[in-house]
Amino acid sequence: MAAVGSARVGTAIRGEFPIFEHTTYLNSCSQGALSHRVRRAYEEYLDGWDARGAEWEHWVERAEAARSSFAALLGARNEEVAVTTSVSQGVSGIVSALPLGRGERRKIVISEYEFPTVGQIAHAQELRGAEVVHVLPDDDGTIPVERFAEAIDDRTALVCCTTVSYRTGNRQDVAAIAQLAHDHGALCLADSYQAVGAVDLDVHGLGVDFLTGGTVKYLLASAGLGFLYVRGDLLPRLLPTQTGWFADEDIFQMDISDYSPAADARRFDAGTPPVPNIYAGVAGMSIVQDAGVEAVEAHIAGLADRLIAGLDELGAVTVTPRDPARRGPLVCVRSTDVSRLVAELARERIVASQRDANLRISLHLYNIEEDVDHVLAALRDLRHLLA
Ligand SMILES: Cc1ncc(COP(=O)(O)O)c(C=O)c1O
Repeated sequence: MAAVGSARVGTAIRGEFPIFEHTTYLNSCSQGALSHRVRRAYEEYLDGWDARGAEWEHWVERAEAARSSFAALLGARNEEVAVTTSVSQGVSGIVSALPLGRGERRKIVISEYEFPTVGQIAHAQELRGAEVVHVLPDDDGTIPVERFAEAIDDRTALVCCTTVSYRTGNRQDVAAIAQLAHDHGALCLADSYQAVGAVDLDVHGLGVDFLTGGTVKYLLASAGLGFLYVRGDLLPRLLPTQTGWFADEDIFQMDISDYSPAADARRFDAGTPPVPNIYAGVAGMSIVQDAGVEAVEAHIAGLADRLIAGLDELGAVTVTPRDPARRGPLVCVRSTDVSRLVAELARERIVASQRDANLRISLHLYNIEEDVDHVLAALRDLRHLLA
């Protein structure tokens, strides 16, 4: 991993991303900016198709390259990582492996900040006999670990938390939540889509059982590629019933007579891998890896400090916590008319986004202080649209 202070952030990397020639892009929480490297990766995929036709063996090799990249980013072993098409696939795979309709452990605890897919998949398990409990934020918008402690008990099968909230930028204490889950014999899943690539994640240090995300945002690539980390020693007792032939112990045996999933986390893969997305994903992740996530995180923290200080000067209501340990790359600020605010910023060629009544400004390795100053200057003129 590159040391903090790596040169491959900010102005040193910005030229890889053509959008900055005309736009202040502050929307990586929706989608990372397109790089020359990712564009070339798509072309490589198309060129191979043109030159050689179907390349199944090569595609399997590329899927393994994606698995290795994900594992390296997470501090996991390759055997602990499934390559998925989405967070939804990974989470559905997990719940399909849990006996939620049998026995005492039928409870799924989810935070109020889960992405819709996690909440919806959890509630879908009610059809199998599961019970879903929501952990609500306090009035200040944070969800203290104590709120999880109140919800988790010995009937809990799974606790779902989100590393960084897509709605508020709030970062949860995943390690403490995982510990609480384990104290009650439950498993813990952290949806880390809004963190991976921008926050240095060490799955073993966090102690989670599952961690999931994908490549669209801070991993700088395409929709349609994700990952699921599964703690290695859990694998023998987790048999997903949501499955597919790429999860089989021998993909090319083409055997329809039984269910014999791979021994490792590949048992959570499913059908044909999303090959074009894998080409893009490996390329996007390589940009983050070249910079080093630790350096990216430090770069983002500096920009976020500058942004929050500027918002304070404007008298704006910053929803995201001030404590750097409780936030990540996303800073949310309260607006009185957020749709209009996003549209007005777009007129200034500033791309940001919205959730609830919050303007979302997200920062990544390619952003620089001028981007922060540009959005602050625009917000000064649009002060009437801030709460
Ligand atoms: C926190 C979080 N989880 C999950 C997703 C997406 O889930 P999926 O990969 O299933 O589309 C997103 C954004 O799209 C997200 O922000």
